[in-house]
Amino acid sequence: MANSTAKLELGGENREYEILEGTVGPDVINISSLYKDTGMFTYDPGFTSTASCESKITYIDGDEGTLLHRGYPIEQLADHGDFLEVCYLLLYGELPTKAQKEDFDYRVTRHTMLHEQMSRFFTGFRRDAHPMAVMCGMVGALSAFYHDSTDISDPHQRMVASIRMIAKMPTIAAMAYKYHIGQPFIYPRNELSYAANFLHMCFAVPCEEYHVNPVLARAMDRIFILHADHEQNASTSTVRLAGSSGANPFACIAAGIACLWGPAHGGANEAALNMLAEIGTVDRIPEYIDRAKDRDDPFRLMGFGHRVYKNYDPRAKIMQKTTHEVLGELGIKDDPQLDVALELERIALTDEYFIEKKLYPNIDFYSGITLRALGFPTTMFTVLFALARTVGWIAQWKEMIEDPNQKIGRPRQLYTGATQRDYVSIANR
Ligand code: ACO
Repeated sequence: MANSTAKLELGGENREYEILEGTVGPDVINISSLYKDTGMFTYDPGFTSTASCESKITYIDGDEGTLLHRGYPIEQLADHGDFLEVCYLLLYGELPTKAQKEDFDYRVTRHTMLHEQMSRFFTGFRRDAHPMAVMCGMVGALSAFYHDSTDISDPHQRMVASIRMIAKMPTIAAMAYKYHIGQPFIYPRNELSYAANFLHMCFAVPCEEYHVNPVLARAMDRIFILHADHEQNASTSTVRLAGSSGANPFACIAAGIACLWGPAHGGANEAALNMLAEIGTVDRIPEYIDRAKDRDDPFRLMGFGHRVYKNYDPRAKIMQKTTHEVLGELGIKDDPQLDVALELERIALTDEYFIEKKLYPNIDFYSGITLRALGFPTTMFTVLFALARTVGWIAQWKEMIEDPNQKIGRPRQLYTGATQRDYVSIANR
C-alpha cells in the first residue's frame, strides 16, 4: 500500500513518512510515529485533514458530489434496492443473493419486538420530552436487556447485536412517537416490509384498520437508504471512539444518537424546516440571504453547506425527487414551504457568496418537507435519521472491532493553560 514518502525537515533533521494509497480518493501521510520521532503532535481542529481510520465501507468524493457504498453509487441503490438490501451490503460487503436476502429479511423481522418490560421505560419520560432524548435513553438501555449480545469478542454476538439494533430501532422510534402524542403503542407486523411496518407502527391505531400506502412506504424506504451511512461523519466517529474502549454496541450507538442530535449534524433537517416556516413567503427570502452572508449575524441557511460536499449533495437530488413523489401522491398542490425552498435554492445557487464558498443544498434541505408531508412532526425528523443511520454506525463499529490494528482512540492536545503553580488557600485569594 505504501507508495512514496513525504519529507519533513524539523530542527535540522530530515525524516520521511510513508504515503499510503487508497483505492480511490486522497492518499494519506502515515504520521503515527511522529510523536515518537519528534516529540510533536499534529494540530487539526475539526479533523479537516485527518484520516482517523482505514475503511472499506463508504466513499465520498465531495468535489464531484459522489457517494458510493461498497462501490455502488447511491443513485443506483436508491432506485433499484431496498433498505434491508443496503443494510446487508453495508454489513457484509456484497449485495445479497436472493436466498441471502430472504434469510436476512427474516432475521431482522424476527427481532422487531422490544422486551415487554422496556415499554414501561417510556412512562418514566415526560410526554413533552424531545423524542431524541427518549431515543438516547432507550437505546442505551438495550444493553441492560440483551446481555447475550454484548460480548464484543464473539463474532456471533456482534452480528446478533447488529441485527437487533436494525430491527428494534423502528419499534423504539415509533413508540417514542406514540408516547409523545398519547396514543397506545402499536406492535410490529412481520408481514409488512421494514418501511411499511414502521409507518404502520407510527400511524395505525388499535380501533381501526390502517393500510400503508405503498408509494409512501417506498418513499420512506428510500429516505432510509439515503441516510444509511456517510463515512466518518461526527456521529460515526463518535460511535467508533466509544467502541474503541471496548464498550458494548448498544452503548456505542446511544453515543452516536447523542452526537447526531446537534443542529450542525442530524438536527439540521428539523432546523431547515423551522427556517422555511420562519421565512414563510418567497418575498422574504432576500432578507434571509443577506443575514446568511452577514459575518456579524450567526444565522446560517440550514440545509446548506457540508464539510465534505463542495458540490450538490447527491442525496439531496434524490430527496428532491422523493419530495415531489410524496406531495403528488398526497395531492398536495400548494406547499408554501416547498415554494420557499425551491426559490431559496434557485437564488442561493446563483448568488456569488454561495458559489464562492461552494455551498449547495444538502440532504436535510428537502427531507424535512417530505417527512412532514408523510405525517411526522419536526421533532421526529432526527429520530428517523438515527433509525436509518444505525446500520452505518454498526457496520463501521464492526469494521473497527475486526481491524487487527485497532486501538483505543486517544487524541492529544495543544495545551495553552496555566503552567504549574501552587495552591492558594481560600482566605488568601
Ligand atoms: N449558510 C451561510 N454560510 C455558510 C453556511 C450556511 N449554511 N455553511 C457554511 N457557511 C460559510 C461559513 O460562514 C464560512 O464562511 P467564512 O469562510 O467566511 O468563515 C464558510 O461557509 C465555511 O463554513 P464552515 O463552517 O467553516 O464549514 P464546515 O465544514 O465547518 O461546516 C456545516 C459544515 C456545519 C455543515 C455548515 O455548512 C453548516 O453549519 N450548515 C448548516 C447546517 C446543516 O445544514 N447541517 C447539515 C449537514 S449534513 C448532515 O449532517 C446530514
